[in-house]
Amino acid sequence: MTRRVGLLGWPVAHSRSPVIFAHWFQRYGINARYELLPVQDHGLKQFFADFDTMGFVGLNVTVPHKISAAQFVDLDPVGQRLGSINTIWREDGKLRATSSDGAGFIASLDEQAPSWRSAKTALVIGAGGAAIAVTDALATAGVSIRIANRRAQRAETLAARVGGEAVLWSAIPRELPHVDLLVNTTSLGMEGSSPLEIDLSPLPAHAVVSDIVYNPLNTPLLKQAEARGLATVDGLGMLLHQATVGFEKWFGQTPEVDEALRSKVIATL
Ligand code: ATR
Repeated sequence: MTRRVGLLGWPVAHSRSPVIFAHWFQRYGINARYELLPVQDHGLKQFFADFDTMGFVGLNVTVPHKISAAQFVDLDPVGQRLGSINTIWREDGKLRATSSDGAGFIASLDEQAPSWRSAKTALVIGAGGAAIAVTDALATAGVSIRIANRRAQRAETLAARVGGEAVLWSAIPRELPHVDLLVNTTSLGMEGSSPLEIDLSPLPAHAVVSDIVYNPLNTPLLKQAEARGLATVDGLGMLLHQATVGFEKWFGQTPEVDEALRSKVIATL
């Protein structure tokens, strides 16, 4: 019997998740289908009312439902802290959920720049939804967090939430000499938007520079870091590693993030 999983969101057509899961279904010989489930805000309640009869093993959740879907499921500790989810599975007759973005981010750092594990201080640029997952994961890993955001109030709010410190956007150059890990969580550098203009020269030579933007893979920020000989971590790693959590929960085995998978997803960018 073909097992059903899928992606709940609006819109969902642009998602790379079907490519990721199709690769793993083939590689591990799993008879399953990853379906796109476009549902608007006003349809969410009915969707969850009908969900049990639809025979799904689990779901990924994306915008605009990451926060609103949390009310229909039983949250794990990460989901509770973030108030936001992207992965739902069945456990003990209940729908359980987590946000796998933070775990995916940490796994991508481990894969692409394992030296990040000696980092004491991280400077996170941005204070949106992605920044919440990233700062929560880094704080949990014991890293001291500093957050700079264009709108300073959002940085203050997030810093208070994760036990970090907000710094002014204009203070970024002064911060850099003390930073071991720099993370861009904004959309700056994404295809079609302007780059994140930070002169990385004050960073120490051991610093790791990470960007959660994956289109393009080599953002202007990462190019600059590479040119300076710094270790870099691209955003594709986080996208691929966060998807492993759903696969584990739904099919009981840990899928590998390998070169073949990276190449398949890169071909869609
Ligand atoms: P996501 O959930 O993807 O993180 P978001 O909540 O809209 O999306 O957050 C986008 C982030 O990119 C925010 O930190 C935003 O800064 P503001 O809070 O000041 O809006 C940041 N961002 C987007 N465009 C930006 C720009 N042109 N300059 C600086 N920061 C920008």
